[in-house]
Amino acid sequence: MEKVICDGNTISYKDQGQGEPLVLLHGFCGSSEYWDQVVPLLSDRYRCIVPDLRGHGLSDAPMGAYTIEQMADDVIQLLDVLELPKVTLLGHSLGGYITLSVVQRYANRLNGFGLIHSTAFPDSEETKEKRLLAVSNIQANGITPFVDNMIPTLFAPDHVGDHPEWINLAKEIGYKTPPQGACGSAMAMRERPDRRDVLSASVLPVLLVAGEEDGIISQEKTFTVDQPNVTQVTIAGVGHMSMLEAPDRLAATIITFLDQVQSI
Ligand code: MLT
Repeated sequence: MEKVICDGNTISYKDQGQGEPLVLLHGFCGSSEYWDQVVPLLSDRYRCIVPDLRGHGLSDAPMGAYTIEQMADDVIQLLDVLELPKVTLLGHSLGGYITLSVVQRYANRLNGFGLIHSTAFPDSEETKEKRLLAVSNIQANGITPFVDNMIPTLFAPDHVGDHPEWINLAKEIGYKTPPQGACGSAMAMRERPDRRDVLSASVLPVLLVAGEEDGIISQEKTFTVDQPNVTQVTIAGVGHMSMLEAPDRLAATIITFLDQVQSI
């Protein structure tokens, strides 16, 4: 992996393929490895830049609470170092929250963007409480039991029984999350604002992808706008993790969207 310094922290990233630049952001307790099966399906036509977000994977994990804005600024600094004036940005879940912060503050750096199993809604009061519980759990018991509990909830129920290898892969990726990185990111998600107005005000091409069986973020929470610049796609039979549950169908969805972005 390559490395850059963003805001004093090392951010690791993969840079694979040729063509128009596409940045792929992973979700909470994931890493660039979440995208490993999708990138080979895109990289003959697109330059895929896939960072480990602050607090995740091989990137630095500073202590304390993070903000979604800091995590978005890391992405912009990475683009600056790579001298990429404009990219298409797709974010999975936490990565989608970060994507919306980029849209709000740096829309001029985007050709288009997408939320993959993500939402513009803020945390509910109940979820905010759960974030605090997650932080105290991780601080008390470490990352492993937290990841062991969380990961199966991310997959479609049938996949939990039928594809233990997918669950194990996601757990192995999750175990590499530094505990302070998971805590810092949980606090960032907790404090994020409602960005439904950012999503609906954007005139950029937008891709919204939902999993038919996503138990974390429902289709209703993903599809908050229905307007001509927005493409809504539901992937049948998958949960919150189409990049592992159906990488071929997710890649095909992304390619169709990128073709539209390029034709504008
Ligand atoms: C993620 O996959 O990033 C998380 O499920 C997002 C969240 O907890 O809101």
